[in-house]
Amino acid sequence: MDSFIVKGPCRLKGRVKISGSKNSSLPIIFASLLTDEKCEISNVPQLADINSAAAILSYCGKKCSFFSGKFSCAEEGEIKTEAPYDMVRKMRASVLIAGPMLARFGRVKFALPGGCAIGVRPIDIHLDAFSKMGASVSFEGGNVIIKASSLKPARINFKFPSVGATENVMMAAALTKGETVIYNAAREPEISDLAEALIKMGADIKGAGEEIIRIRGASKLKGFSHEVICDRIEAGTFIIAACALKSEIELYGVRKEHLGSLWRKLILSGAELFSEKEKVFVSAPQKIKPVNISTGPYPLFPTDLQAQWMAYMSLAEGKSRISENIFENRFMHAAELMRMGAKIEVKGKDAFVNGPASLSGAPVMASDLRAGAALVIGAMAAKGQSLVKRVYHIDRGYEKIEEKLFSLGADIKRIKE
Ligand code: UD1
Repeated sequence: MDSFIVKGPCRLKGRVKISGSKNSSLPIIFASLLTDEKCEISNVPQLADINSAAAILSYCGKKCSFFSGKFSCAEEGEIKTEAPYDMVRKMRASVLIAGPMLARFGRVKFALPGGCAIGVRPIDIHLDAFSKMGASVSFEGGNVIIKASSLKPARINFKFPSVGATENVMMAAALTKGETVIYNAAREPEISDLAEALIKMGADIKGAGEEIIRIRGASKLKGFSHEVICDRIEAGTFIIAACALKSEIELYGVRKEHLGSLWRKLILSGAELFSEKEKVFVSAPQKIKPVNISTGPYPLFPTDLQAQWMAYMSLAEGKSRISENIFENRFMHAAELMRMGAKIEVKGKDAFVNGPASLSGAPVMASDLRAGAALVIGAMAAKGQSLVKRVYHIDRGYEKIEEKLFSLGADIKRIKE
């Protein structure tokens, strides 16, 4: 298990390229299961989660190649319509094989993902939707088995705008003749990106990025080439890091329109932000003002930036409140930040941060991907040396994070254990 040694405090300076979106790449890679033709996806980040997706497709019988940001896969022979526990447990997004497999082969079996460090994370919304489309769902030996001789179009009202369920149903409906309508759909930019890929495959999709999505499926879908959008969470992480470290940096390969809620909160905290084409210029506040955030489905503040915001607010001049409304157990980073000297009190779904703390380096442990990013920000702001353990969580979602931070002037080094 690798760790990072970080020496702080440091300032960042220079330009950094933002990678392609992990959360867009994953569903688009799984969409290739909808066709036997060749699919080519570019701007795919080199991440552990992408390797996990490729391993599942290979296990199922696809021939995959992933090199230099280009992922391609083709079909050779029969497809196995299942994913075993060892694969699903590594990455929850593996449940996204369900929609494509079910629509194309009429059956799918995969291990139930179970809980994870940030919460219980059930998949009932996915399963209810497939039932509405005429599928039968059963459970056996820790697996879920979904079958349908042929899916039928349906009107599906989500009780919550789940990102994964929206993607799974969109993919299933893309290969189901007739019009399927999703109400209360997730509106994340990654949903629109997947819709673009499905449209290239031959589906007719209206309303992606809005609350109501209408999908007219085709009886056969074709191969596609697609370039995924940039990673708004990676971009947000670098912007927050620059603000926490009183720095000025430039990001390129970013879309400002995907950063709306974060952008507004950063301005309130005193940061100066400016964007031009696909570039963002960040100038940190002289004094960081405390700003409350409350996470929610897009376009509200992303839960995937909550931990990083907490690290930032621990340096603010005053008290702030952070409310987590998406996952029930996503404050594990609070205790680790407190080991560096942050003053945080967690009460249910709220965390109260009492700044400014003068952070000092400490050994800390990443409990999940974004918690890990928050600890790296804390470590760069802290005086002295920190050891950030369990970097494999961070490697799931940040491409070459230590190389990018090092090139911006951070004193960060990976050590292999
Ligand atoms: C996706 C993102 C993840 C992000 C999350 C919320 C990917 C690969 N991952 O995860 O980075 O943190 O969106 O923005 O894109 N829920 C149910 N039943 C379901 C499905 C979800 O109760 O059937 C609940 C979950 O437990 C959670 C909430 O809904 O509390 C949000 O989950 P969802 O939007 O589905 O997140 P993911 O697609 O898993």
